[in-house]
Amino acid sequence: MLTVKTIIGFVLPALAMVQACLCAEAIPHAPDWPFDLTTLTAPDGSVTAKFVSFGATMTELWVKDRDGKARDVILGYDDNTELLTDPAHPVFNPIVGRYANRIKNGTFSIPITKFPQPDGPNVFHIPTNDHDGQDTLHGGIYGWDRRNWTIVEKTKTSVTYLHIDDADEGFPGTVTALATHSVENGGILRTTVHATATEKTPIMLTQHVYWNLDAFQGSEDILGHKLHVDASRVVAVDSDAVPTGPFIDVEGTAFDFRTTQAIGERWNDTFDLCGPGCQGYDNCWIYDNSEETKPGLTLWSDVSGIRLDVTTNNPAVQVYTAFWLDTPRKKVHGGPSLNYTKWTAVAIEHEGYIDAINTPEWHVDQIYYPGKDFNWETTYKFSTVH
Ligand SMILES: *[C@@H]1O[C@H](CO)[C@@H](O)[C@H](O)[C@H]1NC(C)=O
Ligand SMILES: *[C@@H]1O[C@H](CO)[C@@H](O)[C@H](O)[C@H]1NC(C)=O
Ligand SMILES: *[C@@H]1O[C@H](CO)[C@@H](O)[C@H](O)[C@H]1NC(C)=O
Ligand SMILES: *[C@@H]1O[C@H](CO)[C@@H](O)[C@H](O)[C@H]1NC(C)=O
Repeated sequence: MLTVKTIIGFVLPALAMVQACLCAEAIPHAPDWPFDLTTLTAPDGSVTAKFVSFGATMTELWVKDRDGKARDVILGYDDNTELLTDPAHPVFNPIVGRYANRIKNGTFSIPITKFPQPDGPNVFHIPTNDHDGQDTLHGGIYGWDRRNWTIVEKTKTSVTYLHIDDADEGFPGTVTALATHSVENGGILRTTVHATATEKTPIMLTQHVYWNLDAFQGSEDILGHKLHVDASRVVAVDSDAVPTGPFIDVEGTAFDFRTTQAIGERWNDTFDLCGPGCQGYDNCWIYDNSEETKPGLTLWSDVSGIRLDVTTNNPAVQVYTAFWLDTPRKKVHGGPSLNYTKWTAVAIEHEGYIDAINTPEWHVDQIYYPGKDFNWETTYKFSTVH
């Protein structure tokens, strides 16, 4: 019998999959797929964003500075095939999954446990690719950011990519993901991801965007960028950047951005904060409010005057000031003879509680299954400060 529960739990996801797959056949691949470029421009010209199918990745984002001149405010490559081949793999602006950030020892169990036994029941191992094999970063060796997504729908202001993750990297079951990027009048860029699972699986996604709101014109790093984060807690981590369980109260620390500060304001207090020998930030802030209508994070530069306000349905944000970066810049950023290096960008990654699947004491449920879909939504609004 077709109950409401069955319709929501099974029929709707199945229909969505069928529709997605029919659409996938309806739009043939461009010859240069998966590096085919899609350009979206808001009708009022306030924002132009470019994407490739590979990783559903944003490759350029042009917004206007206080003089009305457009600047490309995200890092990237001139040759987008580098997204696949660059051994440095900085993860420039794709959708990251099936599980973003780190997984301790590349191991988890369902239901989750604090110390999953290697040969225990329902224990899963994902290839480790970080800190000499101590953890998995960004979904494994070939996470969603290095997969060939398919365009299923496209207009002048919106593009939807499909990715079917069929137990890739050792995760359980098949996850079907639809990522939609759109632009709107008034300087708005929005990304949403809807994912359905055929079996119980963790899902935790991010969009891993590296920002420099000056676009390397008038400044060379982001230490002067002003940052506001509506969060009084940061996740405490070990030397592999894996959560230990407790939260750090930001009060009186260099993590406190509840009052707007320049990113570099307390730079001398940031030695080793992002790992041994690393200066700056690579940390996960837990938002105090989960109102999707109010920006949780604001970033602006007094040089270009470009201001970014971010609203999200995610409970947390990873802010990484790019200590380990060393990759030739795009031409528009002064490349290729100059490189993107440490502190020349800030990656802002809206996500769930990191490695909650190995931290049961948080009681954060990141397991999805038929009938429980995953939804990720983030809106970036651009304006100017004078
Ligand atoms: C880490 O996972 C491997 C299997 O991938 C297992 O052999 C090893 O015992 C685990 N280490 C710890 C400390 O749990
Ligand atoms: C994805 O695209 C890359 C680059 O063109 C190609 O090497 C690879 O074989 C493709 N993978 C699949 C599964 O189609
Ligand atoms: C930071 O440390 C450096 C070198 O130790 C010092 O020269 C500089 O004045 C310090 N800056 C601040 C703001 O304290
Ligand atoms: C830029 O980065 C590349 C790749 O890491 C490296 O080979 C090259 O030497 C760097 N160039 C400069 C000018 O530092």
